[in-house]
Amino acid sequence: MNELKTMKAYPFLLNGEWKDSTSEKLIGIESPSGNDNVGEVQAMTEHEVNAAIAGANDAQQNWARKSFAARAQLLYAWAEQLLEMKDELAATIMKEVGKGLASAEKEVIRTADFIKYTAEEGKRLHGELINGGSFNAGSANKFALVNRNPVGVVLAISPFNYPVNLSAAKIAPALMGGNAVVFKPATQGAIGGTLMVEALDKAGLPSGLVNLVTGKGSEIGDHLITHPQIDLINFTGGSKTGKSISQKASMVPVILELGGKDPAIVLEDADLDKAAADIVSGGFSYSGQRCTAIKRVLVQDETADALLSKIKEKMEGLKVGAPEDNADVTPLISSKAADYVTGLIEDALEKGAALVKGNHRNGNLIYPTLLDGVTKDMDVAWEEPFGPVIPVIRVKNVEEAIHIANESEYGLQASIFTRNMEKAIHIGNELEVGSVQINGKTERGPDHFPFLGVKSSGVGVQGIRKSIESMTREKVTVLNMTQG
Ligand code: NAP
Ligand code: G3H
Repeated sequence: MNELKTMKAYPFLLNGEWKDSTSEKLIGIESPSGNDNVGEVQAMTEHEVNAAIAGANDAQQNWARKSFAARAQLLYAWAEQLLEMKDELAATIMKEVGKGLASAEKEVIRTADFIKYTAEEGKRLHGELINGGSFNAGSANKFALVNRNPVGVVLAISPFNYPVNLSAAKIAPALMGGNAVVFKPATQGAIGGTLMVEALDKAGLPSGLVNLVTGKGSEIGDHLITHPQIDLINFTGGSKTGKSISQKASMVPVILELGGKDPAIVLEDADLDKAAADIVSGGFSYSGQRCTAIKRVLVQDETADALLSKIKEKMEGLKVGAPEDNADVTPLISSKAADYVTGLIEDALEKGAALVKGNHRNGNLIYPTLLDGVTKDMDVAWEEPFGPVIPVIRVKNVEEAIHIANESEYGLQASIFTRNMEKAIHIGNELEVGSVQINGKTERGPDHFPFLGVKSSGVGVQGIRKSIESMTREKVTVLNMTQG
């Protein structure tokens, strides 16, 4: 506790002022390796949360009247500030969530690019005119003017794994759509989130337009979600949390980006070197802590040995260690997360899976692990590990691969590796997922592509233009023309 007191306590931004909480409670943030106290964030009171929402509600009225060009101006300035703070932000992401330094820097640059593209795209958000005569002759004197209006106050809740990018990916499109935002970062990730808001504040953020709320989701989450002045909830995180939010939100619209169990389906005619390389980078980068990580491999029996040997060989090239050394596989976010992954591996081994590589642990660091002969009775066949373990499930044919892929509760993305494009399109059509990657690893970007999950992987669509559309509401004005 004495040590915590020497750390930097980060304030929250409320209506243009950086403040400490009257709760006088601070939450200490330790790095995933457990070697570094990164800082502290404020545990805000319900009263302060109410003030944040009310302030955002007030600020939104003025903001909605600003021209699209004026909104874009703030976003350009924000992107510039983020780039100026790149080193500080990257070092914070690295320490706080244990991401390799180069990846942390890429996250900041990607975020600045995202914000600039959002400014451009938002300026081109046009309405439409619908001619009534296209329905029947009797409606020929009607025209519908369809415009896009802000929804009001967006509650943005982000996860730990991209503390800057996935937060800005909600805030920037919300602002371009004329909304105000109440932003609650993941607690482990809140320091990165705070610095990102500091950049926005330096860029000239109008008072209250984005208010920052820090505190544990388990303590302030329900209050935020059920607050009557929240008009839309944009959440990224685990499926369990997302489902609970959608139930409690009642009639408030939700956009949910949730967990995944993305399969890589490898056919006998695939370029196995390419497939193995993509499976290794897709499955193990940032220790598998990506919603879009490859989380299972489905391969025909006759191809499995060759593929496994190539995956194993490529795993030798993975760097395991500290984020400061730019390792690909670094300590997992918490000991609870590491225990969970260890449990999945042990369950599979007890039930007869073969360990091809890995299964060493040092604190929260789990070495990249490849399991062969995984069967449907093993938890690792279905659960999202959010850690560096890839289960390989051998199948008899393509139909079985499709069946097992679709048996999952998740439906984020899927990869298909084959040289037969027709077959790939057919398989893609059969898969219950938001996106299919043909001959490539599962991944979110480029960030202007639509991004969505089905089943337990999400509700709603994101991706720059789609995100702006998802956080605005159509308003229809019908012109009834006098005939004759
Ligand atoms: P999480 O535990 O669900 O937390 C996500 C956010 O929800 C955090 O800000 C958390 O705050 C907050 N929260 C927790 N309980 C809440 C409650 N009762 N009410 C309101 N908010 C609450 O997820 P995570 O561990 O940070 O992220 C990993 C998960 O996110 C994985 O399943 C991953 O697949 C998914 N993810 C999905 C996508 C996608 O685009 N589909 C992208 C990234 C991550 P605290 O930190 O204070 O608890
Ligand atoms: O964790 C979820 C992120 O949206 C994944 O993004 O595929 O670029 O790593 P990514």
